[in-house]
Amino acid sequence: MSPHSSSPPDLRQAAFRCISCGDLSDSASHDFRCAHCGDLLEITYPSWQESKPDPAHLKQIWRERRLSSRPVDLSGVWRFRELLPILETEQQVITLREGDTPLYELPRCARITGVSRLFAKHQGMNPTGSFKDTGMTVAATFARRAGFQWVACASTGNTSASMAAYAARGGLRSLVLVPEGKISWSKLSQALDYGAVTCQLRTDFDGCLGLLQQLVLRAPVYQLNSINPFRLEGQKTLAIELLEQLDWQPPDHIIVPGGNLGNSSAIGKALVELRDLGLISRLPRLSVIQAEGANALVRTLREGAQHLIPVTPETRATAIRIGNPASWKKAANVIEATSGACEQVNELEIAQAKAEIGAEGIGCEPASAVTLAGLKKLLSRGFIKPHQTVVLVLTGNLLKDPDYTIDFHRDRLFVGTREEIASGALKSLRHPPIVLDATLDAILKTLEQAGKS
Ligand code: F0G
Repeated sequence: MSPHSSSPPDLRQAAFRCISCGDLSDSASHDFRCAHCGDLLEITYPSWQESKPDPAHLKQIWRERRLSSRPVDLSGVWRFRELLPILETEQQVITLREGDTPLYELPRCARITGVSRLFAKHQGMNPTGSFKDTGMTVAATFARRAGFQWVACASTGNTSASMAAYAARGGLRSLVLVPEGKISWSKLSQALDYGAVTCQLRTDFDGCLGLLQQLVLRAPVYQLNSINPFRLEGQKTLAIELLEQLDWQPPDHIIVPGGNLGNSSAIGKALVELRDLGLISRLPRLSVIQAEGANALVRTLREGAQHLIPVTPETRATAIRIGNPASWKKAANVIEATSGACEQVNELEIAQAKAEIGAEGIGCEPASAVTLAGLKKLLSRGFIKPHQTVVLVLTGNLLKDPDYTIDFHRDRLFVGTREEIASGALKSLRHPPIVLDATLDAILKTLEQAGKS
């Protein structure tokens, strides 16, 4: 399948399908929008209608590949290549050994929330520190295969870090558009080090994405935002790997943060495909959590609106500081298909949840912590029951946003905000650094005091 060819659909392979009008084609325009109605495209596998892959066989070959040392098998994405678009040769793959991320139990957070079994699928353990790598390996591979020299994205930071790394590995040039002053230094530093042409634009993420969509129609650059359906195919493997780790016993709930809403769409697509192919017998409920200040999907679903209700985004969880999420319709569809929910959490709830996950010795970036905060809300609403099994998708590594963590522990996160007084309730979760004279006495006294608390 060539993203920009005009040959008739080859139904033995993957095809592009419009999510609104259902138009099927084996080519896509530069902006990955339907030529007829302008809505987003998704990748579909018409050949599965004729001959479904055998579930037992798939489970067996995926397990066997864990013992292989071939680069495609060492990738936790390409290990599941039977459910991805086909390549001519495995040498085409650009991989950094993404995927294969740990599934941790969270006993302390389970106790805090009162849920019986709680897991974290930690996508922050990917090569560049976020879930973006699982999608980027696929999309960057297809960009190079289609003959592009330049790839580009708009980003709140993680996409740009990931894209720049995969472009560098694959010998491609990369162009990054990020909102000035609104992404963390760690993420910016990654894009710089991996050699991206990095533009800090005086706008927000939505402004950057709008410009990128115009740019790809004017210049020969391949866009690697999650509008690109190849990204979502790679991100699907999170769900496949998770189910494999749970011995194909679906959890009751999966909770994921919502920003531009590509990741939730990808996970939901995977769950439906796994069910349709017979790899799992029932669907977990997929719930999406947004920050209160960037809650476009929450508002849209609550009001039952046919069109997205965009917002002017504001949250310290900068990764999900997005007001006009591109994949909102795909996310709404998978929430409906899996009977999931959509919730919002406020800045205090996010900070508290992040510190609680950190106290498990795992840690994550603020955007990932919305999942634990959202779990508390869904439990209190009765949507999740205490006896159920829940998986939180932690999307980014703790080290992605050290400023947030340090500000939290030094009690500076909420200074001058309307949460300042209420944030006093989080005191017991703070562990600020202690400046001491360099004497043994001072250290012993500190140790003694800490032992009492
Ligand atoms: N968590 C983290 C750490 C993210 O970086 C993002 C998105 C999300 C959650 C939300 O995922 O957009 O698929 O709903 N970051 C993008 C970026 C937008 O540019 O790095 P989503």
